[in-house]
Amino acid sequence: MVTTPLEPDGKILILPSLLACDFARLAEEVARIEAAGADMLHVDVMDGHFVPNLTFGPPLVKCLFDVATTPLDVHLMIEEPLRYAQAFLDAGAHYLTIHAEAAEVKDDIAGAISKLRELGAPKIGLAFNPDTPLDRILPHLENLDMVLVMSIFPGFGGQAFMGEVLTNVRAIRDAGFKGRLEMDGGLDENTIPLCAEAGADTLVSGSALFRQPDMAKGIAHFRQLGLEARAKGGFA
Ligand code: DX5
Ligand code: ZN
Repeated sequence: MVTTPLEPDGKILILPSLLACDFARLAEEVARIEAAGADMLHVDVMDGHFVPNLTFGPPLVKCLFDVATTPLDVHLMIEEPLRYAQAFLDAGAHYLTIHAEAAEVKDDIAGAISKLRELGAPKIGLAFNPDTPLDRILPHLENLDMVLVMSIFPGFGGQAFMGEVLTNVRAIRDAGFKGRLEMDGGLDENTIPLCAEAGADTLVSGSALFRQPDMAKGIAHFRQLGLEARAKGGFA
């Protein structure tokens, strides 16, 4: 059963990316991650076209939903997110995030967001890659629950953080966006302070978190680093 959805509330959320977990023990990994204090589970869906990698489909998301007690944050790195949105919603996605560059989205971002609303998505996110101009995103802020600023080119875990995207994070907050501002890619103890200081509050971590000898301590440490940096950045 999924607990009450989290709302923008000044919290720093830490989201382990399941891409880095042991796929042979998914249910155990979910239990371990949740016991360690994860706020949501980040689920990376890849189609082998939008990104050169393949991962989970709706049936697997449904299996995760059945064993999870925290909400599922489903990151769709697929060319046809609208074609599959209903299936992912039926599978239990709580946040459904589409990419601004996806074939089905790029020519009508507003239409894609409306379609997800019509389908009853509980929360809608819009992700964008490091080389996508911010002005493609800004007109849609008021219709979004979350913006995902990618700090890598999506497709694989374990890549180096691209600090140049931090100006976009700050600019999205400066534009008045009060929703969840997520970052994904290369987040670790060195880069989380930079993200939170710029205004990000929803932090995805794969390889760095799964490298921690003690996941609970790792999550608590990442959250604390985020809270300290957030205050330094001038955010409540
Ligand atoms: C990559 C995914 C990420 C990935 C991050 O395309 O969107 O969620 O798991 O992994 P790390 O934290 O290792 O960069
Ligand atoms: Zn992701």
